Formats: sequence, structure tokens, C-alpha cells
Amino acid sequence: MNDLFLIGFMGSGKTSVSKRLGELLNREVVEMDRRIAQREGMGIPEIFAQKGEAYFRACETVLLEEFAQGGPRVVSCGGGVPMREENVAAMGRCGRVVLLTARPEVILDRVKDSDERPLLQGHKNVPYIAQLMEERRPKYEAAADLTVDTSDLSVEEVCREILRQTGIHGQKL
Ligand code: S3P
Repeated sequence: MNDLFLIGFMGSGKTSVSKRLGELLNREVVEMDRRIAQREGMGIPEIFAQKGEAYFRACETVLLEEFAQGGPRVVSCGGGVPMREENVAAMGRCGRVVLLTARPEVILDRVKDSDERPLLQGHKNVPYIAQLMEERRPKYEAAADLTVDTSDLSVEEVCREILRQTGIHGQKL
């Protein structure tokens, strides 16, 4: 019931922030993409290519439902997680949802050297990112209990803001 879910677009900072938040709060960190890749024995691009996106989305939902047990954790969600209503409901049952945002230019800069994101392969440009972000925005916002714009903040500053807004006290920052 006390899990913290970090949601947001690819490159919004979920992975780095969850790692640091986990240290500060002394909590287990679950990186959903990594957990799914471990289970499937292959990387995310291979899962998309060999089994399809629908299969990957089903893996995300199965994993989220497991969070009903245990915790409290910090969970770094894949960028597509809030698109499914059942996922949003599962997060709501297990804890609070933090939306990380960033400007499209900042996102591009953060993702430009990575080949791990099938949805951005061949689309690493600001107009594409801005359009997909805009399409997703209503669902991201509806799922979120609180929002932090990470564009101009360090990982440490984002963590401090999350702790401030949630009222959770971490170690000294
Ligand atoms: C996706 C985001 C990725 C990963 C997959 C699909 C998305 O995770 O789950 O490539 O639909 O936005 P990150 O947000 O951690 O990059």
C-alpha cells in the first residue's frame, strides 16, 4: 500500500530518480523493464521484435498485479504503463503515483544515444517526441498524484521535491 510508482515519458528520469530514492528511503527498487527482460531472458527490443508489443504490455500488467504483495518499494514504470486503465488501478491500490515530466528537447537529449527503446527507433526528433508526449499527457496526468518537472533539476533535487510533496522523510539530502 505504500509503494511509490514513478511514471512518465521515456527519458523523463524515472530510472535514475528511482535508484536514488530507493537509497534515500532504504527501499527495494523495481525497474519494470529490467524485471521483465530478466523474466523473458531477452532485452526489451527483442521482446518487441519477437513477441510483439501486446505481449510486452501483458507482461507489464502481470508484474504490476504482483505488487499487491510486499513493499514498500520504489517502482520505475515503463513509459507506457499508465496507458492501460487496469495498470492505473493496480498502482492506485498499491501506493502513490509520481509523474516525472520534461521538455521534448530535454527528452531527446537524454534518449539520443540509447537503442533500448523500440518506440523511438527512427523517430529521435523533437516533433515526434512532442506529439507522442501530447497524446499520452491526459493519461499520465489522470494517473498522477503528484508531478515534478525534471527538465532543469538534478536527480537529487527531483528526489527532494518528491519527498517534500509526499511528506515522506528520507535521509538528509
Ligand atoms: C515504453 C517505454 C520504455 C519501455 C518500452 C516502451 C513506452 O521504458 O517500457 O520501450 O511505451 O513509453 P522507459 O520509459 O523506461 O524508457
